[in-house]
Amino acid sequence: MSKKIRIGALISGSGTNLQAIIESCEKGKIDGQMVFVGSDNPDAAGLERAAKCGIPTFVVNYKSIIHQCKIASEKFLPPEDFDLAEAVSKQSFFVADTDAEKTHFFLVTRAMAEAELLNEMKPYGFDLLVLAGFMRNLTPYFIDRINLDRSHPRIMNIHPALLPAFPGVDGYGDTFRYGCKVGGCSVHFIDYGEDTGPIIGQRAFQIQPDDTIDSIKKKGLRLEWELYPECVQLFAQGRLKTVKVTYTLGSGKQLERTIVKILPPGR
Ligand code: GAR
Repeated sequence: MSKKIRIGALISGSGTNLQAIIESCEKGKIDGQMVFVGSDNPDAAGLERAAKCGIPTFVVNYKSIIHQCKIASEKFLPPEDFDLAEAVSKQSFFVADTDAEKTHFFLVTRAMAEAELLNEMKPYGFDLLVLAGFMRNLTPYFIDRINLDRSHPRIMNIHPALLPAFPGVDGYGDTFRYGCKVGGCSVHFIDYGEDTGPIIGQRAFQIQPDDTIDSIKKKGLRLEWELYPECVQLFAQGRLKTVKVTYTLGSGKQLERTIVKILPPGR
């Protein structure tokens, strides 16, 4: 058996994926242990699930930080080590026409919240951070302070759609409204974009004519609870390797992409 990894989680809501990961650790299906659970939302039901399992929890109230900055300009104070120009140049999910002031406000308020997250997480020490229904975009400020070695990313996310289709906040809803005949979920490492990082695993399900948004959410979540622990275990076993690959397209254009290779067991 490989050595147990230390896993931290960030959540915003009910925490059923968190529960699946905790139970997999307890049953030995993941060679790991959940060492903290943080949330941006004080009312997240997942906090209760963690507390019941004796896992330390904390909250960084994003809503309140953002609100305070809106109403009191003296509260709008970026962390000392925050570099706006660097964050703007790296962040890739702003559409080109977003105005500079809004971008600035977004990046500073998120970095303020992220500095608090980093501070809360510091005492625990962890190998992997799992985003389990964490409904906030993380900025380069946070990502670079976790992924110290860029060739070994260690922030994983689960998304309720077959990426790269339907990034954003309502993957199952978007899949349903598009009239897709297949839906699914994806686990990926995060990068500076919105749900764009290298894909680790995916599961798909059929959408039948009588399915509703609720029924496809149920089908999807059931698959999420299997997929996420499996991907975490691959990480624990050291079987996930990110590699840069270059493809030559028909036009002669070169396409460079970072992908995840899953190594065979027992290496
Ligand atoms: C899950 O469906 C997860 O894929 C989704 O939120 C839900 C959380 O459920 N995540 C996102 O949409 C991230 N953009 P849970 O709190 O019961 O695990």
